[in-house]
Amino acid sequence: MAEIRKATGFIDWLDQRLAVNKFIKVMMTEYWIPKNINFLWAMGVVLMVLFMILIVSGIFLLMYYKPDINLAFDSVNYTIMQEVEYGWLWRHIHGVSASVIFLVIYIHMFTGIYYGSYKKGREIIWLTGMALFGMFSAEAFSGYMLPWGQMSYWAAQVITNLFGGIPFIGEALVVWIRGDFLVADATLTRFFMLHVLLLPLVILLLIAVHFYSLRVPHVNNQESEEFDFEDEAKKYLEGKKVESKVVPFWPVFLSKDFFVVGVALTIFFYLVCFHYDFAMDPINFEPANNMKTPAHIYPEWYFLWSYEVLRGFFFDIAGVAAMDIGLAAFGFANVIFMLLPFLDRNTDHVAPAHKRPLFFVWFWLLLIDMIVLTVYGKLPPTGNNAWVGFGATITFLVLFILLPIITKMEANCKCNTGGCK
Ligand code: HEM
Repeated sequence: MAEIRKATGFIDWLDQRLAVNKFIKVMMTEYWIPKNINFLWAMGVVLMVLFMILIVSGIFLLMYYKPDINLAFDSVNYTIMQEVEYGWLWRHIHGVSASVIFLVIYIHMFTGIYYGSYKKGREIIWLTGMALFGMFSAEAFSGYMLPWGQMSYWAAQVITNLFGGIPFIGEALVVWIRGDFLVADATLTRFFMLHVLLLPLVILLLIAVHFYSLRVPHVNNQESEEFDFEDEAKKYLEGKKVESKVVPFWPVFLSKDFFVVGVALTIFFYLVCFHYDFAMDPINFEPANNMKTPAHIYPEWYFLWSYEVLRGFFFDIAGVAAMDIGLAAFGFANVIFMLLPFLDRNTDHVAPAHKRPLFFVWFWLLLIDMIVLTVYGKLPPTGNNAWVGFGATITFLVLFILLPIITKMEANCKCNTGGCK
């Protein structure tokens, strides 16, 4: 056992037992972050703050929520919204943060894509990030079911039905997921368990791994400049702070992040107080009714792009049913981002998109296309809407098929230095 001596203070007492000073050094005061980054690099910390808000507001809601198909709707819309003091506020905080967290996740993801932070040693950061995206999607979907309104019920019906498209095991899988032949009480209670326990635990674990996986390759920077972190850290510790290209995570990097978190929270509470309705679908204020299908069923805004990919093929092709093609395209859309580090064939060169002409065009086309898919995902898929949705779906698929080709061309013609030579 290590020698235990009389402690000089509380921190020293803890340090002798838990090596807290070493931990603080490794994770905070000597965890080096490049100086050359902008506010977009604060999104990771904004995400953590929003996740904490979701947990705290969720705990308050949990005190009154009842996971039973006969009680759930009233426990939310009557007890929490009208009877419990400030229950409405906690519900709005929870709903708005669920929506805003997806906006920030998309900004964080697209920042990573733009600056090439997903490759050359940073693959695990990207993969754990995508796993987080998947878990957050499951968390949002399971939470959406809990108020047991019309949209909760029908969204659950549509999404669980999708698993029926998997060959051979599809039908049995749908029943297994629902716990019944229809979306019913057993479905609600298991999604409740996932939402309040299992998925938050997995998310916490993944956040820890995501954060840890940054430790070795280090955070990227605006110019994607590669330098020796040890040398730069040495300069900083010797007092050459201006010359050094790095700053410690705590207190320098985080103090800047806190400013961005402050701005983000101001916008967030403005939305909670004045525009909370954007995060709540009016149809969901009607109790679930399995005999009455809503005129249009659509998911929350953050799933609309992939929902539109699912509906994009509205006609059969060469004898294959439209539904099956849509399902295959939807499956493709949901895994393809995960594979990004391996689809980019210009593996050795990390550079921001504005220094990669072909990739730059690819990046903006993808972003615009996903916005078009999102807008059309909310509209009824008829007439011109259906064709725009089809065009945007094809564009999405083609962009990802082209990615290995254009990045290989880029690698071959050394476009990375600012123009093809
Ligand atoms: C809620 C979930 C998430 C949390 C709490 C989180 C947290 C963080 C933090 C704190 C950083 C370091 C600082 C920064 O660059 O912002 C980071 C970096 C990163 N994250 Fe996330 N992240 C989450 C989700 C994601 C997702 C969905 C992706 C996309 C796949 C992703 C990809 C990345 C990448 C590529 C980096 C490295 C950035 C760089 O080196 O410049 N993260 N994340």
